[in-house]
Formats: sequence, C-alpha cells, structure tokens
Amino acid sequence: MKLQNRHLLGLEGMSKDDITLILDTAESFKEVLERPIKKVPPLQGKTIVNLFFENSTRTRISFELAERRLSADVVNFTTSGSSVAKGETLKDTARNIEAMKIDMVVVRHSSAGVPHFLSRVVKANVINAGDGLHEHPTQALLDMMTLRQKYKTLEGLRVCIVGDILHSRVARSNIFGLTTMGAEVSVCGPATLIPRYIERLGVRVYHRLEDVIPHIDVLNVLRIQLERQKSGLFPSLREFHRYFGVTKEKIEKAQHPITIMHPGPINRDVELSADLADGPHSVILEQVTNGVAVRMAVLYLLGLSN
Ligand code: CP
Repeated sequence: MKLQNRHLLGLEGMSKDDITLILDTAESFKEVLERPIKKVPPLQGKTIVNLFFENSTRTRISFELAERRLSADVVNFTTSGSSVAKGETLKDTARNIEAMKIDMVVVRHSSAGVPHFLSRVVKANVINAGDGLHEHPTQALLDMMTLRQKYKTLEGLRVCIVGDILHSRVARSNIFGLTTMGAEVSVCGPATLIPRYIERLGVRVYHRLEDVIPHIDVLNVLRIQLERQKSGLFPSLREFHRYFGVTKEKIEKAQHPITIMHPGPINRDVELSADLADGPHSVILEQVTNGVAVRMAVLYLLGLSN
C-alpha cells in the first residue's frame, strides 16, 4: 500500500485511507521501538536533511530519531551557522541540497508555504515539520494515533481544541485530520484568538470552557504564544488563565473523564495546570512517544513512492 502523494505537506485534503495507512504503519513501528534493538533497515542508503529554520525541540529530535531508527543517513541544518544567515535565498539553499543528492527533506519554517515551494524545486520527498500558521501534519497524526490507541476509533470522538486557535498550525492540522476521520471537533478561546469563518472547516465554536466541557471526551490544549500578548489579543496571562486555563476544578464539572493533550512546549499554570499536565488523564508523554513511530511511518511510506 502506498500514499497518494509523494510529499507530506499537510492534512488538508488527505484521504481517510491515507491517514489510516499512516496510523496503522505507525503501530507496527511502535512495536519496533519497544525491542531491545530499535533499528530496522528500510531507509538504508537514503540521505535525509532536517532543515529547521525555526526553533524546535520535540519535532526535530523526533524526526532525527525516526530517521536513524530506519537506518537513514541524517544531515541536520539550522539557520544559525548556515549561509542563510549570510543572505542566501531559500531557492539557492534548495538547489544546493539538490546538488548533494538528498533523498528526503524535512522542513520547518516560519513562513507558510515553504514546504510546498521546496516540493516544486527539489526532486526529494518533502515533509512539512511546521510552516508558519499553516499546518503541522505530523503533530496532528501523532495526536490522532494517541487518541486512536485510547478510544480504538476516532469516529464520533468529541475533541475540543482550546486556546490560541488563530496562530496555531497544530489546530489547523488537527481540524483537517480529525474531521476527515469522523470526529466531532470544536474550538474554544477568546473571540480575538479564533479565526473568522472557522465554522466552515466543520467545527463548532465556543467562547466559554464551561459550555463545552460537559460535551467532550478530549481537550487538546494549545500553548498560549506569549509573544502575542503585546499585540493586545488578550489582556493578561492571569486573565487568560482564569477564563481559558484548563484546571482540575473546571474539568471535574464534566462528571466524566476527559483526556488532556498538549503538543508542547507547555506554559504550566497558564493554559494548563501543572497537576493536570502530570495527572492520570494526561496523554502528553504518550503523544511524544507516538511522535517517533508516526514519523517513522511517514518516512517509510514516502520512501516507497520513489
Ligand atoms: N509540538 C512541537 O512542534 O514542538 P516543538 O516546537 O518543540 O517541535
């Protein structure tokens, strides 16, 4: 079985069959990760470059681990110390990568559309590791894998994404993926942090956590982007925490267990209380573990397309 596309640029428009194929393949790789020797040979002889033009901890380490577990040769690139700092254009960087016969490119960039641009100018498979406010497809895939493990199916699962939806590529990829898989998706946050017309993506909008909590199974809590505070989109962190911070007291009102997710990095006691982040309903570290298996699946399946 192969994916329909030879790049992973986003989950918008990806079919249910392709998402299911990635999640099923990730389950097999998860089993590999539990073996004493966690290495398999499918990408032996392939070279992968990780192009990170923006900071990352989880995604960068997770991709590198996934690549090494599949026996690929790995090259890491970050903006500092590269010729981008000397003014080299993205197109020239891409052409140089091409000249070095790289097989796959994993790219994170602050501008939306960079992975799409690269996919048009290089022959390598391109994987989006987060582009601006647009998409972060492997994050949504690992989120879906984590939920599928817990609930067996995503069909009919009630998931609310809470916080700064406006600036979140994680929210967009989750909305595309989860709605395709048949989940009921809602978003909750202050009006200033919810994009206009988001209902057109098939989600319900709430502005009070108290209104949505009784009706959901899962809360996917987003990082409040502290750098946005100065732009006046919310008055203070204390006020944000009071109305949209997810706490034990608020979720206990549901009278049924609610699964807590967070893509990281967490601002503890701002968008999510520390006791919930570390508590029994949190699957945050399972998300991180599943990230390696999902990225192995994506790299393996895209490798089959060559
Ligand atoms: N979830 C996520 O993308 O984290 P990083 O920014 O650390 O990669």
